[in-house]
Amino acid sequence: MGKKQIFNATLTAIRALSERYSMLTLSLPATVGDMEVLPGQFVEIRVADSPSTYLRRPISICDYDAASRVMTLLIRRAGEGTEHLCDLPEGSALDIVGPLGNGFSIPAPGSTALLAGGGIGVAPLMLLGKKMKEQGVTPCFLLGARTASEILLAKEFAAIGEVAISTDDGTAGEKGYAADNSVLGRHYDLVCTCGPKPMMAGIAHKARANGSPCEVSLENLMACGLGACLCCVEPTLKGNLRACVEGPVFDTGMLLWEI
Ligand SMILES: Cc1cc2nc3c(=O)[nH]c(=O)nc-3n(C[C@H](O)[C@H](O)[C@H](O)COP(=O)(O)OP(=O)(O)OC[C@H]3O[C@@H](n4cnc5c(N)ncnc54)[C@H](O)[C@@H]3O)c2cc1C
Ligand code: FES
Repeated sequence: MGKKQIFNATLTAIRALSERYSMLTLSLPATVGDMEVLPGQFVEIRVADSPSTYLRRPISICDYDAASRVMTLLIRRAGEGTEHLCDLPEGSALDIVGPLGNGFSIPAPGSTALLAGGGIGVAPLMLLGKKMKEQGVTPCFLLGARTASEILLAKEFAAIGEVAISTDDGTAGEKGYAADNSVLGRHYDLVCTCGPKPMMAGIAHKARANGSPCEVSLENLMACGLGACLCCVEPTLKGNLRACVEGPVFDTGMLLWEI
């Protein structure tokens, strides 16, 4: 697992993808060295100059290029902390702890994988899809959102593999929920999913019906992000596990969900 570090990154570019979503590009300092990032890991970011956001905010690592030390984050405006991060001027310094948590599994070369993300849940799937492709796995992406304008990074995902889309209103791809998309009718060697819990549970249900193993990335509320406060615990077959340390990625076979 990548060793966690604390560092100041520079915000070199910020791109609004829609009213609610922005892509932040960060340049990491040379002091991070050969930092290893597993797809599915996240960082905790201090929201400076914001009196009501004392706690760091957990954000998935969307992409990371170790050679150039460039990290990409995809952020949805959810409240004061994320609003503040999306409104920062280029050149700002960000105080970051990471990489944190575990990552998704990567199946053997020659395997197939479905990577399903709902809304901001697509964030960890970019680095995951790239790593899978590098390692000879064929990824298919399933992107779900309420409406076409909220489908994120479709072109970027299409450069890596097949892309299927579901929108609630039918303005792009298949009309309906991601968990009902026709690509879920196939068997995969691994299904990875991140997004709203009902979507992940629906996808896990279909994966099980097709005999595909399934891993989910949980976005449980977090405070310390370091395993100390226990506010993020998830009940599992192995007892209460901390989503920030033993997760955020869990095999659905371990979870006590109704799948
Ligand atoms: C492991 C992990 C990875 C994440 N990755 C990303 C990411 O890549 N991009 C991104 O934009 N967001 C991500 N999130 C969610 C993000 O951390 C929250 O949206 C953020 O902390 C909200 O802070 P805020 O100050 O903007 O809003 P707050 O004012 O704190 O909260 C605003 C609303 O968001 C809800 N909220 C707060 N924390 C979470 C959470 N963890 N999950 C879901 N809802 C939450 C609150 O209940 C409230 O309704 C991730 C969360 C986790 C645990
Ligand atoms: S957030 Fe504190 S233990 Fe997980």
